[in-house]
Amino acid sequence: MDILVVGGGGREHAIIKKLRENKSVDRIYALPGNGGIAKDAECFPVKATDIDGIVAFAKKYRPDYAVVAPDDPLVMGCVDALTNIGIPCFGPEAKAAIIEGSKVFAKNLMKKYGIPTARYATFDDMQDALYYLESAPIPTVIKADGLALGKGVIIAETRAEAKNAVTMMMQDHKFGKSGDKIVIEEFLEGPEVSVLSFTDGKTIVPMISSMDHKRAGDGDTGLNTGGMGTVAPNPYYTDEIAARCMEEIFLPTVRAMNEEGRTFKGCLYFGLMITKDGPKVIEYNCRFGDPETQVVLPLLETDLLTVMQAVTEERLADVEVSWSDGCACCVVAASEGYPVSYEKGYEITIPDEVWPYVYIAGAEDEDGRLLTSGGRVLGVTAVMPTLAEAIEASYGMLDEIDFANKYYRVDIGQRALRALR
Ligand code: AMP
Ligand code: GLY
Repeated sequence: MDILVVGGGGREHAIIKKLRENKSVDRIYALPGNGGIAKDAECFPVKATDIDGIVAFAKKYRPDYAVVAPDDPLVMGCVDALTNIGIPCFGPEAKAAIIEGSKVFAKNLMKKYGIPTARYATFDDMQDALYYLESAPIPTVIKADGLALGKGVIIAETRAEAKNAVTMMMQDHKFGKSGDKIVIEEFLEGPEVSVLSFTDGKTIVPMISSMDHKRAGDGDTGLNTGGMGTVAPNPYYTDEIAARCMEEIFLPTVRAMNEEGRTFKGCLYFGLMITKDGPKVIEYNCRFGDPETQVVLPLLETDLLTVMQAVTEERLADVEVSWSDGCACCVVAASEGYPVSYEKGYEITIPDEVWPYVYIAGAEDEDGRLLTSGGRVLGVTAVMPTLAEAIEASYGMLDEIDFANKYYRVDIGQRALRALR
């Protein structure tokens, strides 16, 4: 069986390594993949956003199954396009991927179906938004409607900052068309939990919970990044909270999407905040999280391909999805200066015995040498019986990996450890 995976970061590397565990998998094609993924799959230089190029590739190589991992191709209709040429896919169609592609859509959906989230207002006129901010409670949160490479959310501590954010999005078009509409919402407080789930539109199976570390610096300081590390499970996600999330958020979301004629099939990601009034949705993603996937999939005991195919064929209810009762920690190593500016092109050395635990995010292969090519370079995941052991083991492995300008947070998992005490 041959599989096509669209995407080329640490998340895709984790998906590919997991798919490899299935003995019936022969070739895995990654579009575009990266220099590290090339050790586990055949990479071809077709961009994840080049839907025509992906379709042309699929017509030529005829994979038996495809997994579309990143947000942009999903929102652009990559699953629709591949399904049209007869290739079964894992991932939502464009009309369902809108749950991440438009924050205005997501907020209105939650309001219509009574799904708990921050109070909000939406705007397509800048003057209206600025007027609203005159009396909005501060801090407030400004969100560009569309995809913005994870940078479209601004938490404004003052009215002036809030107005700047609105002007930057709606007048200066910092995020292009993504900022033509915006959401201004209530600032919520509480620990954050990421819950990825498998759903076929009928059944929803939450994966093990995780905790991301989005800020660049130790102690959750500095700029927002794509994610500097993750741990799973998330200690704030108790059985009681999980039961509430299922009743108040997960099932209602699946039903709401069906009701809207936008049945969601694939990985639906719930970004949750556990507030004093209960769990609330901060964001939906239409895909696996990065670097959440790098801690969640190593804990999955059921064969990933089996679960994915059950989602595609709408028989998820028949599959038992089981998880290891261990803990996972993924520490991301970036290039110094990320997420602003950084140098690249430095050689990465990884001992053979560490390689199975490494997920490459930004590296290219040059004549057999692996060179840094991105802000986030790689992540390394350890699975151990306890969180403390997992943290220690992942940092231990990271120590053995070498490249110039290597930067990482030293406190991944510490907040979770404190919560356990
Ligand atoms: P996102 O780019 O949508 O993942 O949002 C980035 C981060 O902004 C989230 O992980 C939260 O930490 C924060 N955030 C988003 N919305 C809110 C909110 N309403 N209140 C407080 N923090 C928020
Ligand atoms: N790690 C957050 C995300 O994938 O959106």
